[in-house]
Amino acid sequence: MIQKLPDFQSAREITDTWLNVFLQPKNDLTARITEAMRYSAVSEGKAFRPFLILTIGKMLKCPPEITGQLAAAVEMIHTYSLIHDDLPAMDNDAMRRGKPSNHIQFDEATAILAGDALLTKGIEVISTLPVPAPKRCRLIAELTKAIGDKGMIGGQMIDLIGEKQPLSLSEIQQMQTLKTGELIAFSCKAPCYIAPLCSPAKRVALTRFGYAIGHLFQITDDLLDLYGKTETVGKTIGKDEKSHKSTMVARLGQEKIRLKMREYSQTAQEALTAFGKKKVADLEVLIAYIVNREK
Ligand code: IPE
Ligand code: IPE
Ligand code: MG
Ligand code: MG
Ligand code: MG
Repeated sequence: MIQKLPDFQSAREITDTWLNVFLQPKNDLTARITEAMRYSAVSEGKAFRPFLILTIGKMLKCPPEITGQLAAAVEMIHTYSLIHDDLPAMDNDAMRRGKPSNHIQFDEATAILAGDALLTKGIEVISTLPVPAPKRCRLIAELTKAIGDKGMIGGQMIDLIGEKQPLSLSEIQQMQTLKTGELIAFSCKAPCYIAPLCSPAKRVALTRFGYAIGHLFQITDDLLDLYGKTETVGKTIGKDEKSHKSTMVARLGQEKIRLKMREYSQTAQEALTAFGKKKVADLEVLIAYIVNREK
């Protein structure tokens, strides 16, 4: 049976349309920073988080021009996290998305600035979305919490500590929730704040779905670091083991990790039962895709 794949292509196109609006090339002395931001953000990556925002946005009947802008904002913030993640002081990765990492293509200082600027631009975009001010405030409050010290950055800190000392399974779980799960969960629940009508119960279900696929996504990222092909994955393979990263895959081993993946898949699947079967067909396809992904 041929596996049905999520339509990342159209999520990518919509996101790029908005990225081109927000990141127009310049001709003055600031041109280099915009160039560095565009180098990593435009037309690159799978658009996994934009896919979630756009697909769930459509499911909840959100205006597409608003979810499109939100998708671009989240993609900018995700890209910032990758640029900084690749820096020599962090994972020291020279390749990202099949080409030289930002700090290799430009230089370290420019990469730090490009990351900073993508983060702030993403928040700027959300603060000016054409939705009522209380909704914008809610989105910004949820997003900044998801990516700060109690979110993605907190997870990145645990990840670095995990290079120096072994982490327990629950510590690894917390690291995954924070470094990967929070932004993915935000991408799943954010459309609820834009939708004309979304019950708190549905928002809770989508958030639960988000955290579950966040875990699944990080586990398959770690598996690809072990067993993937550089040409397909677009990143240097084998780095996690070399850096002594405390990943769930390293902790549990081949057999147990498959069981863990099944657990997270089931949790994600169960969360979707809050919606009609037909409505969530694309999200069910997504769960299967994450489990089997090759990049
Ligand atoms: C990589 O994210 C970092 C993780 C959270 C595992 P993606 O796998 O979504 O990276 P791109 O955007 O497709 O390059
Ligand atoms: C990164 O995890 C998670 C982020 C928040 C950036 P990894 O360090 O495993 O991501 P890759 O493998 O470099 O994309
Ligand atoms: Mg990392
Ligand atoms: Mg990394
Ligand atoms: Mg990785």
